[in-house]
Amino acid sequence: MRTHSIWHDTFTVPERAPLGEDLTTDVCVIGAGIAGLSVAYALARAGKRVVVLEKEQIGSGESGRTTAHLANALDDRYVTLEKARGPESAKIAAEAHSGAIDFIEEAVTTEKIDCDFARLDGFLFLGGDDGPELLDDELEAARRAGLNVSRVDRVPDRELNAGPALRFPRQGRFHILKYLAGLAAAIEARGGRIFGGTRVEKIEGGFPAMATATTGRTVAADDVVVCTNSPISDMVVTHTKMAPYRTFVVAFAVPKGTVVDALYWDTPDPYHYLRLQPLDDTRDALIVGGEDHKTAHEDDAGERFRCLEEWTRARFTLAGERIAQWSGQVLETNDYLAYIGKNPDGAEHVWIATGDSGMGMTHGTIAGLLLPTLLEGRAHPWAKEFDPKRVTLHGRELGTMAKENADVALQFGDYVTPGQVDDVASIPAGQGRVIRRGAHKIAVYKDEAGRLHERSAACTHVKCIVDWNTAEKSWDCPCHGSRFDPYGKVLNGPAIDDLHPAP
Ligand code: FES
Repeated sequence: MRTHSIWHDTFTVPERAPLGEDLTTDVCVIGAGIAGLSVAYALARAGKRVVVLEKEQIGSGESGRTTAHLANALDDRYVTLEKARGPESAKIAAEAHSGAIDFIEEAVTTEKIDCDFARLDGFLFLGGDDGPELLDDELEAARRAGLNVSRVDRVPDRELNAGPALRFPRQGRFHILKYLAGLAAAIEARGGRIFGGTRVEKIEGGFPAMATATTGRTVAADDVVVCTNSPISDMVVTHTKMAPYRTFVVAFAVPKGTVVDALYWDTPDPYHYLRLQPLDDTRDALIVGGEDHKTAHEDDAGERFRCLEEWTRARFTLAGERIAQWSGQVLETNDYLAYIGKNPDGAEHVWIATGDSGMGMTHGTIAGLLLPTLLEGRAHPWAKEFDPKRVTLHGRELGTMAKENADVALQFGDYVTPGQVDDVASIPAGQGRVIRRGAHKIAVYKDEAGRLHERSAACTHVKCIVDWNTAEKSWDCPCHGSRFDPYGKVLNGPAIDDLHPAP
């Protein structure tokens, strides 16, 4: 079964034309996913002139690969955040994620965005060998953070048949592409301009700050906000503080009304996450995610999808045909919250939003709540908690950071290992493999017609060796999550350049 998200199957966002002239504006936003469009929308509402530059089209990056859970239930849990960063940090996280859902609801209402938005309960239930004390601890921590969380004896869905759980009220869900299309229309209605097919290759701080596209076209702005999932303006600092993981998703058709409409998460690591999405008059889609692993450390997506299907069918007897499967990338920060604020390399008037931490919908929206205030030079009570320059060196975080960076160092050992295959003849049509040629590693893609396409396998960020991703048909970098299409064209930062020609 091919890999495709349910969002792209069920809705098409109208394409935007590339930037064809040099522009001057108040704020230039790079990236048209949830973070970029939330920031642009908030600024446009505040009367700013905004220009959005997107290398592909609206929602074509990681935002289009989400499962679109809108939650203030932290997936790393309040008890963990409180232990690592203190009770004040947990309170701000609760306030910020709750505020993000409110922001989305308000935008949906004000702009009349038809995007299947609904408020509903979320349930955290036990999985694996986890005991009830885990729920007790999280209940207390979430309450200390200010959330109205309660404990229930059973989750409401009978088929899921899970025991005790925590109930988080007023969570939400929506169709991400319909929402982004609505935000885009609202931005343009206020005079904002959005350009697709415009890849930015240079960002310079100063006054004005400048964004330069690969075509040479420029946007001069009072501020540039980089919302490219992984920042392309800061090449080192944030990347040493977060690690890329892949997560997997399968969607099944279920008869309407047979699964209770709520968000569900279990407790193991990695955990499962579930929700419904309306499909038509008689069916919903049951969306089930999980089976995460570190990017490019495994290439067994088929097995991950199979495990998700097995897990689902063991619980939901009415789950029908598998209608979609896809995977996405999560950037886990070392201390559980996103990086939203000034570009950490000190470039003047350059800002970033990154480090979704598995909560990309709310973290992206928090950028829209926080950055407009910071751009005006005003203080914000959340600024310190999301500051990209922050250093958190308590307990697990120090160990996590050291482990992730040791793992990056380990990847450079790939230069001296053999290739994945000895001979291009053993590469199946439509797939890629890394081969060794002398001192070089070559990323070889064999297209469906059997033609070979070769690029250097050295990632253009800081030269780790990429690996083939069978499910997504992409070259993925294990170090900081850059991704390239089969022909070497960059899909995801922090790399800016395509894979170089094979030596
Ligand atoms: Fe950093 Fe590839 S993403 S080396």
